[in-house]
Amino acid sequence: MARFAVTTFGCQMNKHDSERLEEVLSGAGGELVASVDEADLVVLNTCSVRDKAEQKIRSEVGRLSVLKRRRPELVLVVAGCMARQHGAGIIRTMPDVDLVIGPDNIAELPELLAEIQLGGPPLVRTEFDLEAPTFLTALTVASRKPTAFVTTMKGCDERCTYCVVPQTRGPERYRPSDEVIAEIQQLVAAHVREVTLLGQTVNRYRDPAGKLGRAPDAATDDPDESEFAALLRAIAEQVPQLRRLRYESPHPRHLTKALISAHCELPQLPRHLHLPVQSGSDRVLKRMIRRHTRAEYLERVSQVCARLPDVTISTDIIVGFPGETEADFLQTLSLVEQVPHVGVFGFKYSPRPGTAALRLGDEVDETTKSDRLQRLFEVSEASMARHLSALVATQQQVLVEGPSKSRAENLSGRSERNEIVHIVGATHLDIVGEVVEVEIVEAYKHSLLGKLTDSERRRARTKQDGSGRQHLPVVSGVKGAAPPLFGSD
Ligand code: SAH
Ligand code: SF4
Ligand code: F3S
Repeated sequence: MARFAVTTFGCQMNKHDSERLEEVLSGAGGELVASVDEADLVVLNTCSVRDKAEQKIRSEVGRLSVLKRRRPELVLVVAGCMARQHGAGIIRTMPDVDLVIGPDNIAELPELLAEIQLGGPPLVRTEFDLEAPTFLTALTVASRKPTAFVTTMKGCDERCTYCVVPQTRGPERYRPSDEVIAEIQQLVAAHVREVTLLGQTVNRYRDPAGKLGRAPDAATDDPDESEFAALLRAIAEQVPQLRRLRYESPHPRHLTKALISAHCELPQLPRHLHLPVQSGSDRVLKRMIRRHTRAEYLERVSQVCARLPDVTISTDIIVGFPGETEADFLQTLSLVEQVPHVGVFGFKYSPRPGTAALRLGDEVDETTKSDRLQRLFEVSEASMARHLSALVATQQQVLVEGPSKSRAENLSGRSERNEIVHIVGATHLDIVGEVVEVEIVEAYKHSLLGKLTDSERRRARTKQDGSGRQHLPVVSGVKGAAPPLFGSD
């Protein structure tokens, strides 16, 4: 089997799929290499969510085609959402591609590659595993990072009118809770400290094995209620060594009382929620078929803020959805100001094949989209700057993930609420994978700089001497002044 390289585009689910894809290829005798120039097999794990993502991938295929002209034995694989979206169309428009493989077919990769290596024609395999869904599980648990993804569901039944994901990932299929818990137990035994549960509507979870009890506060007559809070509680109970439990992406509709209660009671859960709203205008929300109103979103957020006082919230926004007027956009800006989101991921609406919004026509022009995106960023950057600067001089519990990407002399990790924290001058200490107490000394644009507190430094040193603490410190709440979270309209 060949030397291979994997390039990943898109969301966390794709990142997780790429890790599993690498394991499948390594398991078949392949050798992972860092650059495509050293590889005999290149897999592009693609995203189809916006046209810009696809353009980037098409130009990458173009670059690889040039390489292939020099090295005809180079095998090109297009995997992921774009593969599922266009299927054989990929081979027609990009004839240098040898194999097109969908998100549910990763396990079949070695077999399909063997067929191609026998000299067969390009292959397309993009079937969903609807009858007997399988969920990719980490195989190599040794020498892992302190953080890991675990799939709880795949697909999406929501059908927001702008979105390709229901087409690229198929209908919702849920993973049995005992499988989810068993995988987390394995990861924790291999020193993983933080798990992020993945699913497109992750908080719509239902256990197909029917093994979860009812969570406290779970409504019996609310169609938005799910078994997600019960799953979180079962994980916390059955894997008590797990320090942090995150999840994405939740849908605001399923942020029920039971889920908020779980956040209040389980110290493993972050005091942070990524809660995509997409628009602040009811007219637009309706055309998007988001199934909630502006008032309902604000109501959910205010319930969270009331019960979890120092919680932070981030969101996704689409600007320039068909028919979005200036008045609609101002509603979005006012919502973003009203809920001081600490992160706003803003996107220009991109018409996608096969989506219902295509029929709405009436597109907002590119200049207006760019202008709205810019205005959205100004509001969100100001909110982020206020939030991060309010954290200077506070102490935060940081899970150390490894060397800082921006500065090799620093370590970096994440706070309980998910802020990126660079830790100055601690690379000589053996604290990767630990939760340490850090005093924040400076706020950057999108991250924080901190130093280990004196007591933490002493503890780390004693541990290095071999005489000190062997266990991780106990989680405590975020200290220091929290920024105001719910401004006025
Ligand atoms: N399942 C997740 C997110 C899926 S895609 C959720 O519902 O939250 C991630 C983000 O991409 C979406 O939240 C949305 O803001 C954006 N997005 C999806 N389709 C888009 C499109 N056609 N044009 C622009 N942005 C889009
Ligand atoms: Fe797309 Fe909506 Fe499903 Fe998210 S919930 S994946 S935006 S259809
Ligand atoms: Fe993109 Fe597919 Fe994720 S379309 S956002 S990679 S689910």
